[in-house]
Amino acid sequence: MRTVLILALVLAAGPALAADGAQLFIDQCGACHSMGEASSETGPTLKGIVWRKVAGRADFAYSGALKTLGGSWSPSRLDAFLRDSQALAPGTSMYAVVEDENDRKAIFTYLKSSH
Ligand code: HEC
Repeated sequence: MRTVLILALVLAAGPALAADGAQLFIDQCGACHSMGEASSETGPTLKGIVWRKVAGRADFAYSGALKTLGGSWSPSRLDAFLRDSQALAPGTSMYAVVEDENDRKAIFTYLKSSH
């Protein structure tokens, strides 16, 4: 009986402990971004985003803020952008932020898996 109870508690806590990057992406990014081959009007595709050139997609109309940033999306830069997009690129048209560090890590792992 005790084992069953503990098992039930572990199962209930599971999803909260291990953030699911794919699900977080759908919930928090999917309204504007896809992982497909083409960008949409709402956001650039994020396929292969890790180490991709910043504002590097020819099929998306980026803001001047992102275009002048230069360089590429290193893991630490991506993390900073997701933590506070306006601090990294003031004036960017992306306002979404992910406050929870574990959620950012899970999303990063998911983004990297698209390579
Ligand atoms: C409400 C729409 C919206 C949501 C939600 C959103 N984004 Fe964005 N994102 C944008 C737009 C628009 C841009 C382009 C910004 C610019 O041009 O300044 C962008 C740009 C980016 C870029 C830079 C892309 C490049 O080609 O340089 C990354 C990385 C990114 N978003 C990641 C994410 C992640 C991860 C999430 C989810 C946690 C997310 N975004 C949620 C709209 C959104």
